[in-house]
Amino acid sequence: MNTVIVTLSCDACGNTFAETTSKVRCDCGGLLSVNHSPSLRGAELRRTLEWRAGDSGVWRFGPIVQPLAMSHPVSHPEGNTPLLSRDAVSQWAGVDGLLLKHEGHNPTGSFKDRGMTVAVTQAARIGARAVACASTGNTSASLAAYAAQAGIRAVVFVPAGKIAIGKMAQALAYGAKTLLIDGDFDACLRLVEEAGEELGIYLANSINPFRIEGQKTIVLEMLQQLDWQPPDWIVLPAGNLGNTAAFGKALVEAREWGLIEKLPRIAAVQAEGAAPFAAAFRRGFDGLEPVRAETIATAIRIGDPASYPRAVRTIRETDGVVLPVSDREILAAKAEIDRSGVGCEPASAASVAGVRLLRRQGVIKAGDSVVAVLTGHLLKDPGTVEQMHSGGDLIDRPNLAVQVAADIAAIRAVLD
Ligand code: F0G
Repeated sequence: MNTVIVTLSCDACGNTFAETTSKVRCDCGGLLSVNHSPSLRGAELRRTLEWRAGDSGVWRFGPIVQPLAMSHPVSHPEGNTPLLSRDAVSQWAGVDGLLLKHEGHNPTGSFKDRGMTVAVTQAARIGARAVACASTGNTSASLAAYAAQAGIRAVVFVPAGKIAIGKMAQALAYGAKTLLIDGDFDACLRLVEEAGEELGIYLANSINPFRIEGQKTIVLEMLQQLDWQPPDWIVLPAGNLGNTAAFGKALVEAREWGLIEKLPRIAAVQAEGAAPFAAAFRRGFDGLEPVRAETIATAIRIGDPASYPRAVRTIRETDGVVLPVSDREILAAKAEIDRSGVGCEPASAASVAGVRLLRRQGVIKAGDSVVAVLTGHLLKDPGTVEQMHSGGDLIDRPNLAVQVAADIAAIRAVLD
């Protein structure tokens, strides 16, 4: 890159800000986006993004993520996640060669690390004394880890009783001040924004523009792994809609800068009990009607998604679709992904449940190439795994643990 210019501008009114602002919203209430103007294009730009051993899977895309911080990132490192293929999962979903981009392979076990490395790097650059987020669990785990690395105080707001045990364990272990809020994620997000303004704490939720920049690399890395030949479909779970927004931005920029020629279609999948985005899609995006969210997939238990306008843009620009799947379908997909040896947390399985439904509806056609994003690791939510396999009727074919006497004859009897 010869000249590096990075600015922030308001999505709603176009007002511009220095990239070092601590704001994540414009005075008009609109969210801020990062604007880049890379001086290279096409094959030349692709060459600068090439993989070298030891690189972070986020910062090797630094020239189109945050070029001004590439020399001093707060990096674990993160990214470089695999594209997996398992016949059993492909068959179950009805899509030959279905690929699974497994973001659970990130250092804290979810895709959040990709956004967090950039947001916490930015917090350090602007001298923030503390960082905060509202979270259904993964964001808080990731923020806690990166803030610990940067030596910045972290405060996390989580819905009491509605965060999976693995995620809670991480926030506590990495040393974040953990506030159990008597309310849902939507209440936590309202509170943390208010607290951020009042107490001067840097906000690290996905409304933070640098989170979005980092999360673009899920798509950039996937395209690179596919030799810059986009699949027909990219399918992801959707909650607060930061990731849906990031995927659209990545794809539109990639086309504009000559990295790819055609845009894949995005399918955003919500849990039926937390599906205001899917409902708005069905109504032709006539506006968001928040809901009181409930789902076993606690990661996406969100009723009033903050990045709604950006996510609408993603779906419009990619000729995408939004659909709900039931908790039962989510758990059936999870059981299949788990049994294949891959494993993921419940929210992640919504993507594969969505692939199966779209294929059955004929929206995904025979022969279409599809990448489903698995957003988090199996061990994030061991409580749900235990429930699934404890003999209730949450899934077909539960794998019941067998209590057996400490005696070889008894063991033989069980195994026979
Ligand atoms: N999958 C997982 C595992 C998540 O943790 C989340 C969001 C999503 C999907 C949805 O992504 O919000 O960008 O649409 N988790 C946030 C959190 C809300 O606090 O960890 P989204």
